[in-house]
Amino acid sequence: MAPKKWETLNPSGSKRVIVTKQLPGERWLERLTQADCKVEVCTSPDVLSTEEINTAMAGGCDGAIGQLTESWEEELFAALKDAGGNAYSNCAVGYNNVDVDAATRHGIPVGNTPGVLTETTAEMAVALTFAAARRTGESERFLRAGLYKGWLPTLFLGELLWRKTVGIIGAGRIGATYAQMMVAGHKMNLIYYDIHQNKKLEDFIADYGKFLSSRGEPPVSCRRASNIEEVLRESDCVSLHTILDPTTHHLINAQRLALMKENALLINTSRGPVVDEAALVAHCQRHPDFRVGLDVFEDEPDLKPGLVELDNAVIVPHIASATRWTREGMATLAASNVAAILMGYPVWQEPDITPFLEADPPKAAPSILNAADLNLPVYESC
Ligand code: DGY
Repeated sequence: MAPKKWETLNPSGSKRVIVTKQLPGERWLERLTQADCKVEVCTSPDVLSTEEINTAMAGGCDGAIGQLTESWEEELFAALKDAGGNAYSNCAVGYNNVDVDAATRHGIPVGNTPGVLTETTAEMAVALTFAAARRTGESERFLRAGLYKGWLPTLFLGELLWRKTVGIIGAGRIGATYAQMMVAGHKMNLIYYDIHQNKKLEDFIADYGKFLSSRGEPPVSCRRASNIEEVLRESDCVSLHTILDPTTHHLINAQRLALMKENALLINTSRGPVVDEAALVAHCQRHPDFRVGLDVFEDEPDLKPGLVELDNAVIVPHIASATRWTREGMATLAASNVAAILMGYPVWQEPDITPFLEADPPKAAPSILNAADLNLPVYESC
């Protein structure tokens, strides 16, 4: 394997931070420069192995910004500690690639980037929903192949979602935002499953239902299901918004797919292994009217055999958070986490992290997952 290329930014900085991929925008670098960091960025798009990251940290490293494609586990946190480091941030909100307990054992704070992906990811889930429902990938391939011979009453008939039932599994920030977009935009009824009740979401839908009634229109409804099966059976479209952990691995399997309507849609912008992808391929092969929209895959970047050939699957390469604003925001938050820990700042507690995207951010680390376990001081606004 050829050695990966690295670029040094702010070479006069007194602390050394490695960044395992090039990041968009400039603000993230400003944050690290203000914290007097020399920043070494890997300019290769290939995924770095644990060994390569280990080698990059050797000889002195104060902090690191890593990606969801890397395994930040015991070996790397031990290596970061040995290199004199005490700050890590994932450049992602999800952190199933990080062993936070291992980092805690080594006394290393772990950051992530919540609050800037919500609407962007929800919009992609909506885009995939309608791309799947209205067969846009399939019909575009048909058109580009020169097969269009004129308008036909039977050409690419899809599914109308207006006033139907949308189901979500996981009603956290992204799931709830997707649900609101589908309910308010398309007057759909909602059924959701989550171990926690989302009262704010329920109130939003109740208020929207009252608004519709006040205009003489049928209201919309919202119901929290007592199990996942109910959501799968009743929905015309199901979108997955869970985290990935051992309890959600293969949450959607062959048995659960079999409960869904034959012409339902399944959307996944969460993590690939939440769905048994081989079972999904088999289900789509047997049910041509069942459609899926996938942003994430079980063995990324590889796809399970048969997926690429499916006309009833819309697939995109893990780009749900890929708007410029969001990706620059993620980079800024990740850099702010590392810079703040290296500066000895306390940890922010408010849900709103947007002040960190501004020119004059709070002197705090925006999001540290193991802050309580490490007894880190909490930011007090004056
Ligand atoms: C995340 O941040 O977890 C997303 O998957 C990146 O798109």
